[in-house]
Amino acid sequence: MSLIRLAIEKAKSAGVGWVAANNSNHYGIAGWYSLQAAQAGLIGLSFTNTSPLQTPTRAKAAALGTNPLTVAAPAKNGETFFLDMATTAVALGKIEIQNRKNEPLPEGWAIDKSGKVTTDGRVAMQEGCLLPLGGTEINSGYKGYGLAFMVELFCGILSGSDYGPKIRRWLEADRPANLGQCFIAVDPNCFAPGFSDRLQDMMDFCRNMEPTESSKPVLVAGDPEKMHMDKVNRQGGITYLQNQIDASAALAEKLGVDAMKSVIRS
Ligand SMILES: NC(=O)c1ccc[n+]([C@@H]2O[C@H](COP(=O)([O-])OP(=O)(O)OC[C@H]3O[C@@H](n4cnc5c(N)ncnc54)[C@H](O)[C@@H]3O)[C@@H](O)[C@H]2O)c1
Repeated sequence: MSLIRLAIEKAKSAGVGWVAANNSNHYGIAGWYSLQAAQAGLIGLSFTNTSPLQTPTRAKAAALGTNPLTVAAPAKNGETFFLDMATTAVALGKIEIQNRKNEPLPEGWAIDKSGKVTTDGRVAMQEGCLLPLGGTEINSGYKGYGLAFMVELFCGILSGSDYGPKIRRWLEADRPANLGQCFIAVDPNCFAPGFSDRLQDMMDFCRNMEPTESSKPVLVAGDPEKMHMDKVNRQGGITYLQNQIDASAALAEKLGVDAMKSVIRS
C-alpha cells in the first residue's frame, strides 16, 4: 500500500494519519500525494527532503534541498485547494528550462560559489546553489529557509533517513538516496461542520477580488495548474522545446529505449 493510502486509512479511523518514510528515493510531484487525500474528502499534506541544493540565509553553500511542501483540501463541486511548492525560490527544473532556452535567471533565484546572486543558470547548476523562497535576506528569504528546515524536520529528522548535507549530491548515484518523506491526512469532519463550504467561500472571495491588472484575475493555489491542464487537453498534448525533445531522444538512445513520440505543430 502506498504511504499516502496508509495515512488516509489511519485518518478515516482515527481522524489523523501521519506517516514518515525513510530509505526512499525521489518521489516526483509532492501534490500527487496530497491530492489523493483531498479526493478521499480529507486534507492532505506531504513533504520530501532532496539532495542539498538550497543555501541557508547568510551561507554560501547548500545545506538543504528544494524540500517541497503541499496541502490539498476538498472544496465544493469537485473543486480543490491545491498548494504544491518548492521551498526554494524556484524548483531546479525551472533553472534547467532557462538554460535550455538560453535565457538568464531572474535575480533572486540562485547564488554563485562566492555567495553573490547570479543570473547565470549554468553557474547556478554547476558551482552555486539555489536561494530559499523569498531570495536574499532583505526579501525575507529566511522564511523560505525556515520552511525548508520544517520540511526536513518532518522528513529526514523525523524518519531517520539521511538529512540536509548528509544526503547524496544531485545527479550522484554512488550510494542509495535514502531520502525521508512525510504523508499526512486529516479528516475535516472531526472539526467544525461546513469545512468545504467555508473553503469554497474563501477561494471564491479571493478569485472575485478586483485584480491590479484586468487581464490577470486573482487566482488561488491550484488554479494555474488546472488552467494549464485544460490548455493541454485542448491542444491534445504537451508542448516541448526542440532541445528538450533532442535531449530526451539522446537519452533514449543511450538507454536503448524508444524515443518519446512527438509531432511538430506550427
Ligand atoms: N520531489 C522533489 O524532489 C521536488 C522538489 C521540488 C519541487 N518539486 C515539485 O515541483 C513542482 C513545481 O514546484 P514550484 O515551486 O516550481 O511550483 P510553482 O512556483 O509553479 O507553484 C507553486 C504554487 O503556487 C501556486 N500559484 C502559482 N501562481 C499563482 C498565483 N498567481 N496565485 C495563486 N497561486 C499561484 C501554484 O498553484 C502552486 O500551488 C511541484 O509539483 C513540486 O512538488 C518536487
